[in-house]
Amino acid sequence: MDGNGRWAKKRFMPRFFGHKQGVDALVRTVLGCADRGIDYLTVFAFSSENWKRPTEEVSGLMGLVLVAVAKYLGKLASHGVRIRIVGDRNQVSDKLRQAWEQAEASTAHNTRITLSVAFNYGGRWDIVQACRQAIAAGLPADQLDEAALTRFMALSHAPDPDLFIRTGGEVRISNFLLWQAAYSELVFSDCLWPEFGDAELDAALAEYARRDRRFGTVESPATASARIET
Ligand code: IPE
Ligand code: MG
Repeated sequence: MDGNGRWAKKRFMPRFFGHKQGVDALVRTVLGCADRGIDYLTVFAFSSENWKRPTEEVSGLMGLVLVAVAKYLGKLASHGVRIRIVGDRNQVSDKLRQAWEQAEASTAHNTRITLSVAFNYGGRWDIVQACRQAIAAGLPADQLDEAALTRFMALSHAPDPDLFIRTGGEVRISNFLLWQAAYSELVFSDCLWPEFGDAELDAALAEYARRDRRFGTVESPATASARIET
């Protein structure tokens, strides 16, 4: 979800205003995905590197999370959204941790769509923490394979993403889902995150539908099964 600061700057407003609008874009997108039958949505809300931003922006973002949970948790819960937080919870305040726990606990039974919010998250962090957990669990080295490690990843509750969208015009992954996005289709949009809505979501899905996914083989599973059936 990139481009909040630039969106605000274009309007001669403080960056925080962009983050605030970004929350609305997130809620819109979660409900838009649920309406389209998407079962899992994972968003990058705050990276392990975002702590390096000016203190007032960081504290503004932390406060915004509390406000957003208070404002939107009921709505998301009533639309069948299950919320999961992925990231290192040790560094965040007790208040924020409690808000996350409340969001997770009160939506745990929901089944329409799983929203994973990556917060204080980094793809490399996740790989390292999964290795640490595997070692702590006493997993022997010869049993540590991709499937075994996947079970320790912060996103073990979700399948690998089919589609990876980055807004804001930058063409890089910036330490998001490094492990899980191995075969994701990447879509980069110039749209600034606060402007993201149904039209941009549908454009990304249409772009995804045009892609030929081969997973390292010569034909996609869809093409192969169509060939076998005919
Ligand atoms: C993304 O928007 C939101 C967060 C990282 C919290 P930015 O804050 O990176 O916005 P730009 O890139 O400066 O426009
Ligand atoms: Mg940015």
